[in-house]
Amino acid sequence: MNLALKSPEPRPGILDIAAYVPGRERAPGVAKVHKLSSNETPLGASPRAIEAFQRTAFNLERYPDGQARVLKEAIAAVHGLNPANILCGNGSDELLGLLCHTYLGPGDEGIVTEHGFLVYKIQITAAGGTPVTVREADARVDVDAILAAVTERTKIVFIANPANPTGTYIPVDEVRRLHARLSAGVLLVLDAAYAEYVRRNDYEAGIELVSSNCNVVMTRTFSKIHGLAGLRIGWMYAPRQVVEAVDRVRGPFNLNAPAIAAGAAIRDQAFLAAAVEHNLVWLARVSEALTAIGLRITPSVTNFVLIHFPETGAKSAEEADAFLTGRGFILRAVSAYGFPNALRMTIGSQEANEGVIAALTEFMGRK
Ligand SMILES: Cc1ncc(COP(=O)(O)O)c(C=O)c1O
Repeated sequence: MNLALKSPEPRPGILDIAAYVPGRERAPGVAKVHKLSSNETPLGASPRAIEAFQRTAFNLERYPDGQARVLKEAIAAVHGLNPANILCGNGSDELLGLLCHTYLGPGDEGIVTEHGFLVYKIQITAAGGTPVTVREADARVDVDAILAAVTERTKIVFIANPANPTGTYIPVDEVRRLHARLSAGVLLVLDAAYAEYVRRNDYEAGIELVSSNCNVVMTRTFSKIHGLAGLRIGWMYAPRQVVEAVDRVRGPFNLNAPAIAAGAAIRDQAFLAAAVEHNLVWLARVSEALTAIGLRITPSVTNFVLIHFPETGAKSAEEADAFLTGRGFILRAVSAYGFPNALRMTIGSQEANEGVIAALTEFMGRK
């Protein structure tokens, strides 16, 4: 027997990970497809970001700036932060992973919530830690459930605020209450990927909490409202000690040059305002229209909405998914998130939104 034919064993736990499945993008046989499965914006990227991206085409032989300075400075200027407290990542996904690899090892626990973003669990496990899942209350992060699950082994707590795929949020007072009961040795990660969309007086993404504590991190992304998912840009705002620790673990050039240049166009705030306005109008219209045809919606503050299908009859989420896909509307099945009979719909263009409403009206009206 040729022993070399056997591959080395991955570390314990790695093969238990259910690999992340991205939103579908194909509807075979359908001419026009509306991809509403990954919470991407229907408005594309800012023209300034596209111009900056194009300009980098003539310097591709050069390594990017490993510190992503112009990007950090642009983020810092827009949000009123110190660039020294910012670290950029290849998408916020990378930062979530880096945080786990920096703070977790075998025997350590990371707390995630019942319907939380799946990357947390994957990265906790990949780092050798143990994910501990706590229940949510009515598809909303439950602070008391998290606090009840904290042990002396807990090293990290992840919450998405607002959350994906539910679209719900918890007010800043609740986040503060959670933080106040965690010991200094526990890192609280506030994943605010959808923060820009939220229009609620009692919501905060986490800047104040990070600024005044040593164990809170806020992560953000350029993939959603900024329309740059293809470039993979995320950032975190964190205490200096956390930035300095994670900086040692990341790849030296984890952001590429076109991403750094395009991301620095975050200063185009007019583009952002138009995206917020489009979403506000269509989130309300889509939610109302789907409710009116008898579907239950989880009220959302984001750019997507969770649609629950009837438990009985031939109108399950799976059937709706097939029906919509046949008409070119690709939503996201969310069984892996604990919602076997729901679909998540990203708020799209007017054409896409009206198309989904019309298709689901037909679907619900079928005998
Ligand atoms: C809650 C949440 N966090 C993080 C991410 C990852 O975003 P990025 O594209 O920056 O890796 C997503 C993307 O779907 C998300 O929904």
